[in-house]
Amino acid sequence: MCGIVGYVGEKNAQDFLVSGLKRLEYRGYDSAGVVTFGDKGVTLVKAKGKIGDLEAKLAGLKRGDKVGIGHTRWATHGEPSEVNAHPHHVGNIYLVHNGIIENYKELKNALSGYEFKSETDSEVLAALIDSFYQGGKYPLANAVVQALKLIQGTYGIAVMSELNPSEIVVARAGSPLVIGVGHGETLIASDASALLGHTKQAIYLNDGEIATVTKNSVEIKTLNAEPVSAKVEEIETNLAAIQKDGYEHFLLKEIMEQPRSLEETLRGRVDLEEGMVRLGGPGLSETELRKIKHLVIVGCGTAYNAGLLASYYIEQFTPEVTVEVVIASEYRYRQAYIPKDSVALIVSQSGETADTLACLREIKKQGVRTVGIVNAIGSTIAREVDGGTYVHVGPEISVASTKAFTSQVVAMVMFGLTIAQAKGVRSGVLKPYIKEIAKLPGEIKKVLDECRELVKGVAEKYKDYDHAVYLGRDTAYPAAMEGALKLKEISYIDANAYAFGELKHGPLALIDDRFFELALLPEGELYEKAVSNVQEVLARGGHVITVTNKTEFDLPVESVVKITTSVEALVPILLNLVAQLFAYYVAVEKGLDVDQPRNLAKSVTVE
Ligand code: G6P
Repeated sequence: MCGIVGYVGEKNAQDFLVSGLKRLEYRGYDSAGVVTFGDKGVTLVKAKGKIGDLEAKLAGLKRGDKVGIGHTRWATHGEPSEVNAHPHHVGNIYLVHNGIIENYKELKNALSGYEFKSETDSEVLAALIDSFYQGGKYPLANAVVQALKLIQGTYGIAVMSELNPSEIVVARAGSPLVIGVGHGETLIASDASALLGHTKQAIYLNDGEIATVTKNSVEIKTLNAEPVSAKVEEIETNLAAIQKDGYEHFLLKEIMEQPRSLEETLRGRVDLEEGMVRLGGPGLSETELRKIKHLVIVGCGTAYNAGLLASYYIEQFTPEVTVEVVIASEYRYRQAYIPKDSVALIVSQSGETADTLACLREIKKQGVRTVGIVNAIGSTIAREVDGGTYVHVGPEISVASTKAFTSQVVAMVMFGLTIAQAKGVRSGVLKPYIKEIAKLPGEIKKVLDECRELVKGVAEKYKDYDHAVYLGRDTAYPAAMEGALKLKEISYIDANAYAFGELKHGPLALIDDRFFELALLPEGELYEKAVSNVQEVLARGGHVITVTNKTEFDLPVESVVKITTSVEALVPILLNLVAQLFAYYVAVEKGLDVDQPRNLAKSVTVE
């Protein structure tokens, strides 16, 4: 979602602001802007559309200004337009804002003497700060604090005043902000990836903190004026991890790097000799693990689908544990009772999703132990959970999540295995899963290498359909849900997933020539039943693609993608790779913006 950058130092601020915003492009946005201060005054430039449009406008204005802030906006209040884009300028104040000011209408009505140009909540915050700043009568940070005390909602902000052009004030509540500490320069970003190549030393601001930064200093306080001693941390990501590595799109790179990213998830956690998995991060003792009776798995989008797939497995080997998988945006407002001896798994690639974070906080209030399944190191969720397992897949840049899904599923299955181990479930039951997990990176590589071209050919045939139905049962059903999500996200084909058993209860009525059906058919106990369901679709003129590991597959379907693997229980994870490649190639065939699909954001930091 929206991105923030800021610079104060000795170099050309515009260079960092523009390159930083480009790094944040992947989060999703629809307009952008920067403001810099220098000898020739203030340069404020905004553009609807992509950073390239902003760059074109800035081209003639390169001024070597050494301080400035910038923003990419993902529209919430008001359409994507230049006037709604940030930075907002009111009185002496320039402001960029991520998040939502919920009480902006009341504040707007109460502010007299201001004419508002945009429809945004952010401009109201800028005016509020200006009203307390009183033309520089008070320090900027004080004015910001006064304003923030009246705000309901979430924010990450960077604020500047031309009356004090050597400092930037930043604050956060619910929207991440990182301060990069350089030599004679200080950088600001809403995501550490924007800082790479400039500094590896970062201070992650906490909710309720405000910082005044100059080129040589960072002074942090709470909103109640208590000083905070800043902890400088090392940014773990490197530049190579956020580049395309020769691939045409980040999405393809991320699909193809899954053998390696999963290896990172497994590193040091699987002991094949002992037939054990070991996860240190959750911080639960054997006694605590033994006591667990209930798991709540919380996530949004792909993270939810990952939780659902993992829950099917966890139930297979921990018979005394019930598993409930919930959509964070719903769960946060439900009056859900969480039984005693529960653990909540909080699943999030970014670690910043607003609804997931809100659930985490609600669940903690109930005294329930929380365990994060998170990718982004140092993210808010990672910092607020009681313990956790990082999936370690590295930066995921493409909006559509792929490598994170695979590793989230496996990390949760491993967590389930640690519970089962502690509960004394027979190793004969657990070892087959552990063996499969250990060989999964190699099997993923085989499937991706063998199927890539085949799937590309199949995808070309289906690009003109308007609708798709994805089908699966048992563990293949959550995989079908994830496959359908990928297709709709990046190809804009309306795709929905159904459990095979539900076909007769409604979806069969859909089958006609506007639809194609993608059936995931893993070999196993329910294979024949699923085949009967496919036949029902074929009998009604369906355009069926099947993805299967069954060697003797002879149904008269339109297209087949067969995978060969020695994996059994975890096959749906492999079938999902085919669905990932399929969605990718359909979107490429349609000429769409694969990495940044319209209207979507990578990290959904507002409700
Ligand atoms: C957005 C992203 C999805 C992601 C979801 C949850 O919708 O586009 O790819 O699955 O948020 O994100 P999280 O970072 O919490 O996993």
